[in-house]
Amino acid sequence: MLSVFSVLLFAGAVLVAEACQGSISSLSDVDYAVKCTTITLRGFTVPAGQGLILNLLPGTTVTMAGDISFGNKSWAGPLFTIIGTSITFNGNGHKFNGGGPFYWDGKGLNSGTQKPDPMMKIKMSGTFQGVTVVNSPARAFSVANPAPLLMTGLTVDDSQGDYANNRSKGLAAGHNTDGFDVGSDNVTIQNCTVHNQDDCLAINKGKNITFDRNTCIGGHGISIGSIGSNVAVSGVIVSNNIINESDQALRIKTIASATGSVVGNVTYSGNTAKGIRKFGVIIDQSYPSTLGTPGTGTIISNVNFGSPFSNITVNSGANQVAVNCGSGSCIGTWNWYYLSAKGGVTSPPSNVNILGL
Ligand SMILES: *[C@@H]1O[C@H](CO)[C@@H](O)[C@H](O)[C@H]1NC(C)=O
Ligand SMILES: *[C@@H]1O[C@H](CO)[C@@H](O)[C@H](O)[C@H]1NC(C)=O
Ligand SMILES: *[C@@H]1O[C@H](CO)[C@@H](O)[C@H](O)[C@H]1NC(C)=O
Ligand SMILES: *[C@@H]1O[C@H](CO)[C@@H](O)[C@H](O)[C@H]1NC(C)=O
Ligand SMILES: *[C@@H]1O[C@H](CO)[C@@H](O)[C@H](O)[C@H]1NC(C)=O
Ligand SMILES: *[C@@H]1O[C@H](CO)[C@@H](O)[C@H](O)[C@H]1NC(C)=O
Ligand SMILES: *[C@@H]1O[C@H](CO)[C@@H](O)[C@H](O)[C@H]1NC(C)=O
Ligand SMILES: *[C@@H]1O[C@H](CO)[C@@H](O)[C@H](O)[C@H]1NC(C)=O
Repeated sequence: MLSVFSVLLFAGAVLVAEACQGSISSLSDVDYAVKCTTITLRGFTVPAGQGLILNLLPGTTVTMAGDISFGNKSWAGPLFTIIGTSITFNGNGHKFNGGGPFYWDGKGLNSGTQKPDPMMKIKMSGTFQGVTVVNSPARAFSVANPAPLLMTGLTVDDSQGDYANNRSKGLAAGHNTDGFDVGSDNVTIQNCTVHNQDDCLAINKGKNITFDRNTCIGGHGISIGSIGSNVAVSGVIVSNNIINESDQALRIKTIASATGSVVGNVTYSGNTAKGIRKFGVIIDQSYPSTLGTPGTGTIISNVNFGSPFSNITVNSGANQVAVNCGSGSCIGTWNWYYLSAKGGVTSPPSNVNILGL
C-alpha cells in the first residue's frame, strides 16, 4: 500500500508541476508562477527601481492580459528581462511603458540622468511576439538569445521623444533609443515597427541574422556596427523593409581603431527608403568620424544587393551612397546592381570595387 501511495503521490506532484497555470499581477507572484509552463502576465506597475525578471522553464508559454508600466527612478535597469529556451511569449498587443519622458534629456547614455538601459533584455529562444514598447528611457530591445529566436509583430513607439522638452535644449528629448540591438546568432526580426531617435537595428556581432518586413521611422536606419575589435558579423539579410524620414537607410560602420574583426556576407534586397536626411547607403570604416580617415583592422567582405531592387530616395543635399573603406579592407564580391538610389548627391567609393553601382 505504501509504495502504491508513494507512486501516486509522485505522479500527482509531476502532474501539478506540468499542469499549473501561473498568474502574475505583481512582482511577488513571479517566483511561484515561473514554476509553471503556462503563465498569464496581467497588467500592473512594477515598483520604481526594480525590474520584472522572468526566468522560465524550457517550453513555457507566457500570454499577456494587460499593460505593464514601470515606476520612475534613475537606475541602471533593465526594466524587463526574459530568460529561457523554446519560449512562446504572446503580447497580444499589450504595452510595456518605460516612462521615457521622465528620463529623456536629449543626452541619452552620454551623460545627464542615468537611464534604465536596455529597457527589454531578451535572453530567450523561441518566439517573442505582439508587444508594444512605449517610451523607452534609452535602448528598447537588447537581444542575446541562447538558440534560434523569432521576434515578430513588435512595435517600439518612442515617437514622443522626437520633441524637445525643458531639459533637452531644443534637441529631440529621446536619444540613444535604439530599437533592436543584436549581438548573437540565429535571430529573425520580422513585421516590426520602430519610431525612435537612433538605430532601428544595430548588429554588434553574430551570424545568421535576418531583418525582414520591418518599418523604421525617424531614427538612424538599419545598421551593422559600430564594430569594435575581435568580433565577427556574418550572414545578415536585410529585406523588404521600409525606412522613412531617417538619417540613413542602410549603414555599416566600423571603428577606425578596431582590429581583428570581420563583417561578411551581407545581403540587402527589396528595401524602400524615403525622406533620408544624410546617407542612403553608407559603409564607413572611420567611426567615430564620418567619412574620415578609415581604419583597416576590420575586413568587410561580400556586401551585395539582391533582387528585388532596393529603392532609396534621399533628400536634396543628402548623399545617395558613400563607401569609405581602408586600403585592402573591403574585399570579395560587391554587386550593387539591385540598388536604385535617387536624389541628393553621390561621391565615388574609395578602396573598393563595386559592380553595378
Ligand atoms: C513616469 O513618468 C512619465 C513622464 O512624466 C509618465 O508619463 C509616466 O506615467 C510615469 N510612470 C509612472 C508609472 O508613474
Ligand atoms: C545557430 O544555428 C547553428 C546552425 O543551426 C547552430 O550550430 C548554432 O549552435 C546556433 N547558435 C545559437 C547561438 O543558436
Ligand atoms: C520640466 O517639465 C516637467 C514636466 O512637465 C516638470 O515637472 C518640471 O518641473 C519642469 N522642469 C523645469 C526645470 O522647468
Ligand atoms: C538561422 O536562424 C533562424 C532563426 O532566426 C533559424 O531558424 C535557422 O535555423 C538558422 N539557420 C542556420 C543555418 O543556422
Ligand atoms: C509577416 O508578415 C507577412 C506578410 O503579412 C506574413 O506573410 C508573415 O507570416 C508574417 N510573419 C510572421 C512571423 O508572422
Ligand atoms: C550567407 O548568409 C546567408 C544567410 O545567413 C546564408 O544562407 C548563406 O549560406 C551565407 N553564404 C555564405 C557563402 O556563407
Ligand atoms: C513611409 O513613406 C511612404 C511614402 O512617403 C508612405 O506611403 C508611408 O505611409 C510611410 N510610412 C510610414 C509608416 O510613415
Ligand atoms: C523598386 O522599384 C522598381 C522599379 O520601379 C520596382 O520594380 C521594385 O518593385 C521596387 N522595389 C520595391 C521593394 O518596391
